Amino acid sequence: MKLINSIVLSLVCSLVFSQNNSFIPGKQWKDTNGVHINAHGGGVTFVDGVYYWYGEYKTAGRGGNTSLQGVSCYSSKDLYNWTNEGIVLKVENNLSSEITKGCIIERPKVIFNKKTGKYVMWFHLELKGQGYDAARAAVAVSDNPRGPFQFKKSYRPNKGVWPMNFDDKFKSALIGENKLKSWTSEWLTAIKIGMLVRRDFEKGQMSRDMTVFVDDNDKAYLIHASEDNLTLHISELTDDYLDFTEKWTRMAPAGHNEGPAIFKKDGVYYMITSGCTGWDPNEARSFSSKSIWGPWKPLGNPCVGKDASLTFHSQSTCVLPVQGKKDQFIFMADRWKPDNPIDGSYVWLPIEMINGKPVLKWQDKWNLEFFIK
Ligand code: DGJ
Repeated sequence: MKLINSIVLSLVCSLVFSQNNSFIPGKQWKDTNGVHINAHGGGVTFVDGVYYWYGEYKTAGRGGNTSLQGVSCYSSKDLYNWTNEGIVLKVENNLSSEITKGCIIERPKVIFNKKTGKYVMWFHLELKGQGYDAARAAVAVSDNPRGPFQFKKSYRPNKGVWPMNFDDKFKSALIGENKLKSWTSEWLTAIKIGMLVRRDFEKGQMSRDMTVFVDDNDKAYLIHASEDNLTLHISELTDDYLDFTEKWTRMAPAGHNEGPAIFKKDGVYYMITSGCTGWDPNEARSFSSKSIWGPWKPLGNPCVGKDASLTFHSQSTCVLPVQGKKDQFIFMADRWKPDNPIDGSYVWLPIEMINGKPVLKWQDKWNLEFFIK
């Protein structure tokens, strides 16, 4: 009887709530059960006609940014209506686990590996009780986009490996560099030429805000905020996407970028990032490059109009290519609510390309017809 009641209830809920036919950025976004979607810092993966949205499952109250459940997943065929698929990577109740309850799991992204047939999730992991010091990249695997994902390992990328094209003369510490005062021009120069790469050479490079990108040739990359969030690193993944090839580069050294989101159009790579102001919004940046390895050309703030200097009160997390539609890209961002993280909302906006630059304009309400106007 209980089972029949819950089936009837869920059918009624889907009939009542499956009615979204537009995006309403920044507002409450209800899933097909009528509950605000809980998938923050997320990314979307497309499999066999279905989009899967993975994200940080937040909880209520000040502690709600630590992971008490794990990574959530929602599915959708139309991008407007999302069904809760539950927690697909669960934190563990075992204090010795790296993903023990109360750790920090941020910005999960899932990619499919054609060779192994596995779904590979990368995320930013902070060990319980250590603030943001661990700065690890973590990986989990599943046979199914709906999970469950099995946690594999977490670590700092590129331990003992210099980035590509790193000048030999910068491989040893410069005299007095560790005494430089932060934010002076000397200090910024030292960062640019790799002071923090040297500092972290033995223990591996930091990996905080991140995304993953699969190129047309199936090579995949982790793009991660490193060097105390001062410099982004682009690290190539092995063919099974479970490890690093040791081929990596630095992007925008000392540029202080977070929230990397990347897409490719007409053979050119575009990246949208944020600055670093904790949970507070700031001005987004954009870049383009003809190669994933750079050089990345800064293109300025992609946002225009009111509140453009605050990315419309949000922070980038991912760029979603609309499937089967050439050049339809959706910018996905989070409007964080650190006092009650569960209330964080989502700002999804269409990306327009104007004079070779991505442009974001605020929309109160929009739908995919925007792209064919
Ligand atoms: C900004 C980052 O983009 C978020 O993912 C999160 O790490 C917060 N900082 C924490 O303050």
